[in-house]
Amino acid sequence: MREVENLARMAPPLMAWYDVHKRTLPWRGEKDPYKIWVSEIMLQQTRVQAVLGYYARFMAKLPTVHDLAAVEEEELLKLWEGLGYYSRARNLRRAAKMVVEQYGGEFPRTAAELKKLPGIGDYTASAIASMAFDEPIAAVDGNLLRVASRVADIRDDIMQEKTKREMRALLNEVIDGARSGEWNQAMMDLGATVCLPNGAPLCEKCPLRRLCAAYRNGMTELLPVRAAKAARRVEERTVLLLFREGKFALRKRPAKGLLASLWEFPNDLGNLDEAGAAIAAAKLGLTAKSAERLESAKHIFTHVEWDMSGWFVEVTGEGENLVWVDGAALERYAVPSAFRVYLAAARQRLEAER
Ligand code: ADE
Repeated sequence: MREVENLARMAPPLMAWYDVHKRTLPWRGEKDPYKIWVSEIMLQQTRVQAVLGYYARFMAKLPTVHDLAAVEEEELLKLWEGLGYYSRARNLRRAAKMVVEQYGGEFPRTAAELKKLPGIGDYTASAIASMAFDEPIAAVDGNLLRVASRVADIRDDIMQEKTKREMRALLNEVIDGARSGEWNQAMMDLGATVCLPNGAPLCEKCPLRRLCAAYRNGMTELLPVRAAKAARRVEERTVLLLFREGKFALRKRPAKGLLASLWEFPNDLGNLDEAGAAIAAAKLGLTAKSAERLESAKHIFTHVEWDMSGWFVEVTGEGENLVWVDGAALERYAVPSAFRVYLAAARQRLEAER
């Protein structure tokens, strides 16, 4: 049974727990909206552990919104290399330009205004407004949805926009108005360290156990409800490490679509055999001299999975739309982590050549 009234009793035990158990993170206690914004964008779809190094490097290179507005796209993509979801980085730069050009370098101070910037949705706008400007608004991410679904035994599908909208409204009513940014982060930390997903919550450590309806009703393993998503399309791809005179070929991806404008090792659909790899090289204007099989690899994107095989192919010829890179040059190009296995193989080969 739904018990939304439980939500109103969360704040005191939650905040007491947070004061003792909060995680130490570089952006904790931060009031600069720029730093909060960058950290929140990085943390979307990426785990805290993976973000830490990127965040430190990013802030060292681009400490203010003015620096970000002025950076070259290639340099930004290089800073983002490996984090994935590259449209986040492009939107970050577009939004920085807007803040500088349209807002005189000062971030808007309300969630409603922040949402007008590219790449800033309900969650991010609320996170920035609450943490930097103390607006009493809930930043509803997967953690908050999970904690609230359980505490109030809400059995609606949290993947539905309608459910999210209702939960946002409910949580906006019960947020600790005096510590709104910290309340949001307390909910996130509780969700990330105690009220864990996939049927594994650590209820014996939870400060909200006594008021949690899911705990009382034996529902913790079943909540939140998430309707199944459409299955991912699986694509076989063959990646070619085309090698000529101590250099490998890179190609720039199209400006639109998956991994737009990033650099890649040329690749083709299908699981190509040696003859197929030679034909693929010929299509790029190159002649294959010899080929060796490389490791297979898999990469999972939001809507597609790449099942990759690879060939190291020694070639002659100029080729079309390719750049040829040696070891030092390779490091200057933003090659997405989908190609991690092949990037490592190329690096190893270049090392051996030296
Ligand atoms: N996940 C995303 N943003 C976070 C934050 N500020 N604190 C903890 N977890 C987070």
